[in-house]
Amino acid sequence: MATLSEAYKEHPPIDPQHIIPLDFQAIRQVPTSHLWPHQTHDEEHAPSSPSSSSIVPVIDLLDPAAGDLIGRACEAWGIFQVVNHGVPSSLLDEVVSEATRLFALPAPVKNRALRTPEGATGYGVARISPFFAQLMWHEGFTIMGSPAAHARLLWPDDYQHFCDVMEKYQEKVKALAHNLFQLLLNYISPSSPAAAAAVEFDGALQLNSYPPCPSPAQTIGLAPHTDTLFLTILHQSSPGLQLFDPAGLRWSAVDHVPGALTVNVGDLLHVLSNGKFRTARHRAVVMSDTTQRVSMACFYGPPVESVVAPVVSPVDGAPAVYRSVGVKEFLNLKALHLDEALDFIRL
Ligand code: OGA
Ligand code: NI
Repeated sequence: MATLSEAYKEHPPIDPQHIIPLDFQAIRQVPTSHLWPHQTHDEEHAPSSPSSSSIVPVIDLLDPAAGDLIGRACEAWGIFQVVNHGVPSSLLDEVVSEATRLFALPAPVKNRALRTPEGATGYGVARISPFFAQLMWHEGFTIMGSPAAHARLLWPDDYQHFCDVMEKYQEKVKALAHNLFQLLLNYISPSSPAAAAAVEFDGALQLNSYPPCPSPAQTIGLAPHTDTLFLTILHQSSPGLQLFDPAGLRWSAVDHVPGALTVNVGDLLHVLSNGKFRTARHRAVVMSDTTQRVSMACFYGPPVESVVAPVVSPVDGAPAVYRSVGVKEFLNLKALHLDEALDFIRL
């Protein structure tokens, strides 16, 4: 059975600059490779205006109306925040602390755990990097299942705690993802038996680091993108995530609500919902010249060998707007076309 990790092998980046992050600890000035000339870009690349207040709702999962609230948030924005989500705040703190410990290692040590050109896991730059002319102020570490093989290269005598924390985090967040997914399926199709079917998730945990930057406004942490799979559940240690508001045609900060988790719809859930749920276009900006920001994103999608077909509501009778697509086929489209991938399956 193919895995998500194997599905990534087919499109290896050719240039090492799309794998090996900058040695941020040694840098005193933003190199031209990492300068993003915002002024010359279109509206979408403009820095957010300081007055933009968050449009992303914070939803209490213990609220009896939570299912409706998150469904409506996915229709309007493709993103929401949750509290009372069942992931202990002590565990969130531990993941932040372990991620911080990892990214604080000297560059040559981190590079021991470098992602290989054909690989999906380990230390490296963002996978969307080859699509952009400039490089991003970011380093990441991708985990699928146990991170032991890479963690052992980083801390030969002391890797167990890191692994325990990451595995525990994946277990807790996955339970939340199942919960949310069930609520969302019920929202799309309250009467369909498919909504009750047990869904297997394939997924990954991405640790992101945005090091302190000598001129944060001149660079970008993570360029604008949508996530590929069903759902992303993100924890940010400090503000930096922004959502592109398609109505106002501008970027809006996603508030940093301590203890809350941010959930966004990915392309495949947009397809499954027949376009009803928005796929959230987002980016991460670099905020500080003194503080490192870390975030951890758990991505969940259907098994790579499965097919995603739009759930068409028998009530409103709206026709399918996407054709069915194999997960692997869609991963390939995304790896080749990034933002245009959905255009290839639109009916
Ligand atoms: C991602 C992502 C945002 C952030 O990892 O896909 O969008 O704030 N991260 O780190
Ligand atoms: Ni993302």
